Amino acid sequence: MDTVQQLHDISDTDVAAWHAVLAASVARDLPGEPMPTLDQIHGYLTTAGFGSHHLLWAATNDAGVAGVARLRLFNGSGRAHLGEFAIHVHPDHRRQGIGSRLLKTVAQAAREEKRRSLVVEASSETSGVPFLEANGFTCVLSLSLLLLSVPDAGGIDEIVHSEHPGYRLIRWLGVVPDDLAATFAAAKSAMGDMPTGEMDYGTTTWDTDRVRDMAEVVEKRGDTLLTVAATHGDAIAGFTELVIPVGDGSRAIQYDTAVVSGHRGNGLGLWVKAAMLEWLRAEWPAVQEIETDNAEDNTHMLAVNERLGFRPLRQTRQYQCDPETLR
Ligand SMILES: CC(C)(COP(=O)(O)OP(=O)(O)OC[C@H]1O[C@@H](n2cnc3c(N)ncnc32)[C@H](O)[C@@H]1OP(=O)(O)O)[C@@H](O)C(=O)NCCC(=O)NCCS
Repeated sequence: MDTVQQLHDISDTDVAAWHAVLAASVARDLPGEPMPTLDQIHGYLTTAGFGSHHLLWAATNDAGVAGVARLRLFNGSGRAHLGEFAIHVHPDHRRQGIGSRLLKTVAQAAREEKRRSLVVEASSETSGVPFLEANGFTCVLSLSLLLLSVPDAGGIDEIVHSEHPGYRLIRWLGVVPDDLAATFAAAKSAMGDMPTGEMDYGTTTWDTDRVRDMAEVVEKRGDTLLTVAATHGDAIAGFTELVIPVGDGSRAIQYDTAVVSGHRGNGLGLWVKAAMLEWLRAEWPAVQEIETDNAEDNTHMLAVNERLGFRPLRQTRQYQCDPETLR
């Protein structure tokens, strides 16, 4: 008999069961992708992403936990309409309605939480695409996932040491230093004009508390957050953030990169990203790869990434629907 149960106090057994489903699912759909570690799953289940809380469910059948679902609920006025979810069903138990039952559970919780928009990501050419389309989701954004081999990236020294008159490179680990918090919050707001297609993703207003909270959430998960910025006088003109996940740390994840509007066109995006690579090579030699995603129409960032040597890994799609339509 199948049941769907909400998980509350996450135990080691919950972490192991979630890990088993996710690892099997990733192995089936995305062969060659690094396997999530138990520590990563523990961090994921016990720390909701920044500015949000989450609800978790496990679907059990006679064989044990066969599917898992997570609904992330954003807090704060700009994103209070939004829920983001992920569902995974173990490959041995697919096409038996487990994914559908989990989706119904997610949608009901989203309605109870007064969310008008449910968003979800699926890799192209995986079962997620027909599953979401069969359930009435609309594709609102196509993204290219890109990968950079850190040891193979060429010309980094030359970019880092190129002249940028009036600008200076700085960097920090974890939470932003107090004297930079206000200007960093202002620079983070420059992410607001990133292309997000038709997605009803809302806005985040950054202030000093929010930038500190975001870094603390990453640290609490056990991950390492690195930031490189270009300053102009006392102000941050551009920055890039990278996260090294807890575990073997061989694949780092690109977070935000932005250049403040008055400073665009000066090569700062390329400069800060190259300086990040130089820092990684010097102090985190275990990091072999960096993964990033790029909206397919974000041509400036794509050009910066190609210049650094990022190569296409696969395509993903963002889907959206109103949970009212999933009754
Ligand atoms: C997508 C996923 C959750 C579906 O789980 P599932 O338990 O197999 O889904 P269901 O049995 O409830 O399928 C419901 C319907 O979706 C469609 N569907 C699901 N998988 C499909 C596939 N591989 N090919 C075509 N249609 C599919 C069908 O219409 C299916 O109904 P049917 O079996 O009566 O034809 C599962 O394949 C999975 O874990 N994939 C990897 C993670 C992922 O992509 N998640 C989706 C985004 S969160």
